[in-house]
Amino acid sequence: MGEDSVRIFEVGPRDGLQNESVILDVDRKVEMIERLVEMGVRDIEFGSFVHPKWIPQMADTEEVARRVTRREGVRYWGLVPNLVGLERALEANTTHIATFMSASETHNQHNVNRTVDESLDCLKTAYETANAEDVTIRAYVSTAFGCPYEGDVPFDRVLAIAETLLAQGADMIALGDTIGAGTPHQVRDGARRAIEAFGVDRVAMHLHDTQGMGLANALAAYQAGIRIFDTSVGATGGCPYAPGAAGNIATEEMIHMFDGMGVDSGIDRDRVLEVAGWVDRETDIDLPSKLYQYTSQLEAAEDQTEETRATA
Ligand code: HMG
Ligand code: MG
Repeated sequence: MGEDSVRIFEVGPRDGLQNESVILDVDRKVEMIERLVEMGVRDIEFGSFVHPKWIPQMADTEEVARRVTRREGVRYWGLVPNLVGLERALEANTTHIATFMSASETHNQHNVNRTVDESLDCLKTAYETANAEDVTIRAYVSTAFGCPYEGDVPFDRVLAIAETLLAQGADMIALGDTIGAGTPHQVRDGARRAIEAFGVDRVAMHLHDTQGMGLANALAAYQAGIRIFDTSVGATGGCPYAPGAAGNIATEEMIHMFDGMGVDSGIDRDRVLEVAGWVDRETDIDLPSKLYQYTSQLEAAEDQTEETRATA
């Protein structure tokens, strides 16, 4: 990966599907993941090992993990909240896990039923087991740029939690803007501080586009040096424990932006749009992605013109 190029971390099958009322069956989930890998992503979050009572959309993650064909050079990540989740993930041969906790107390309580300190302790135990099993650990710090319940979140607190998680055995951090609360200069400053503290290879940006700032924030983060970005095909998703939360930045829109800047992502925009088209056709999910909506309207208009010509 060149110094200026970016790595796209696709979270559609997890973050994208966890907040949709439509529950995809295992066949479709597996096909979605395989299509995303086929299109060129090298990091993919295939699902979560959370309590099925709270997130029924992810109840069959073990089966998904078992059925997906693993491709050489691709990292398949499972989201894990605690030791029970880790044990389920290990049972399903997961070699890469992503854990999560929030920087704000109230969101953490709503999301995982723990205080921030309890979460740090709980993850410490899980990391000991994961490290012993040679599992790679990504650690989300959610509400990094604002909390749906508490508002502003001091960035010192975000950095302190990230530092503790790394010291406890995590390999890298993902800064989660859970409700897209950040604005570009805030995200730029946070990105700079995180890179300075942990190094560019250990910091990813997990931005949601809830309040219209998604791509502007991504650009600010890129300019600050961030090179790993989480996206979701079609811009589906959101956190079920953040009222009104919307999806991550659409994978196709992020790539469209980077293509225009001459920044290599290793992924072809049009192939992402094809996968978005597949999700649109195969599910009842409305894809919020503006680029997808625009290109599909364009295609429909072209088809209409051809039909009119053919019958003229
Ligand atoms: P809890 O009720 O506090 O768990 O839930 P507990 O430890 O008290 O255990 C109670 C029972 O649950 C026990 O069973 C456990 O075995 C079982 P019992 O003894 O009563 O029969 N249990 C589990 N079962 C299956 N899988 C597990 C598990 N853990 C315990 N992993 C828990 C705590 C975290 C499990 C629960 O609150 C939960 O699953 N919450 C869901 C949270 C979630 O999925 N949120 C969305 C993902 S996070 C996100 O979207 C943000 C992110 O995208 C970044 C960003 O945008 O900022 C990552
Ligand atoms: Mg998220």
